[in-house]
Amino acid sequence: MSGIPAGLRGEFPLLARKAYLNSCSYGALSRSVKSAVEGYLETRLTDGARWDLWVGELENVRGRLAALLGCASEDVSVSTSVSESLNSLASALPRDGGRDTIVVTDFDFPTTAHIWLAQSACGRRIVRVDADDSGIALPLERFDALIDERTLLVSIPLVCYRNGVRLDPAPIIQMAHARGARVVLDAYQAVGTMPIDVHALGVDFLVGGCLKYLIGTAGVGFMYVRASRALPWRPTAGGWFAQQDIGAMDHRHLRQAATARRFEAGTPNVCGLHAARAGLEQILGVGLGAISAQISTLTAGIAARASERALQLVTPELPSQHGAMMAIRAHDAPALVEHLAARDVIVSERDGNLRVSPHFYNDESDLDRLFEALDAHPGLLPRV
Ligand SMILES: Cc1ncc(COP(=O)(O)O)c(C=O)c1O
Repeated sequence: MSGIPAGLRGEFPLLARKAYLNSCSYGALSRSVKSAVEGYLETRLTDGARWDLWVGELENVRGRLAALLGCASEDVSVSTSVSESLNSLASALPRDGGRDTIVVTDFDFPTTAHIWLAQSACGRRIVRVDADDSGIALPLERFDALIDERTLLVSIPLVCYRNGVRLDPAPIIQMAHARGARVVLDAYQAVGTMPIDVHALGVDFLVGGCLKYLIGTAGVGFMYVRASRALPWRPTAGGWFAQQDIGAMDHRHLRQAATARRFEAGTPNVCGLHAARAGLEQILGVGLGAISAQISTLTAGIAARASERALQLVTPELPSQHGAMMAIRAHDAPALVEHLAARDVIVSERDGNLRVSPHFYNDESDLDRLFEALDAHPGLLPRV
């Protein structure tokens, strides 16, 4: 028994047409997410504005994110993107205390890197942990060499969007904390694929969004803030939804929420929140244990099929070292993606590698279709 409900694939009409292995880019749309959005649109047709319901939907999403991450709702801020959350966090970084350095990595998603690089305009020093010669590891010694008494923040991804490599954040978090620095974990490529417990991780901030493995839609991001009430950082990027009482309409005073809500901004993406809530409910309903087990079976299946054909797998095979993505080296990855799409096999590419990213709704039949399609283009796949 896989733990995946029988009939789940029928919830995702796309799967009847395509071998959809591209959840690292965008999750497949379920019938229940579609009907949540339709419900919202219907309310607009019939009632016009229902801010009472819609602000409630914001809280529903916050609560479900808290359940997903194992924290209190008040430590979750909901945004429109990871970028919005991180920009708010960046605006809150303290200027005193002698810490001026932000440590980034070679595996960062560009938006994360860009937001921290822009901090150099505020007099901050940005240093980067580069990958080793293999290109798929960020050695702990390199963090050790860069994290010191000047470090304010260490920003790391949990799973790299390019190659599927999964970091072990625990020793990095321990090292940063021992040296007085805080850690931001970009978990976008991991949330919805594996159990995540922010308290067990001990991480200070964790960001993600709802459009990929959380199967919602674009336009809903979030940030967990550890012990948000106790954290003295106050953002200068904000807005009325970041106030203690959003109904106060008091333009004469700034009264930021004491909780993680102070990192929010203006009117939320109401339509997107409906999709996000329904997607989160589906993910939580199936459970992260069953979902991660199904993904592990599929990633192992990809590795085995790649190895039978002597294809070059970029992603490490060890389950603890990869996320829900296996990257395969290609000679002309963009062309290969197009050839596969012509056969209704949907994957994506980065850095000359094919990114194959299964989710709980995929099964072995999708892998068979992928590898049949790959077998039709032997010239585009280097062998070991
Ligand atoms: C690791 C990671 N971080 C961030 C993002 C996107 O951030 P934003 O929500 O700001 O578009 C992505 C999207 O692909 C991602 O994979």
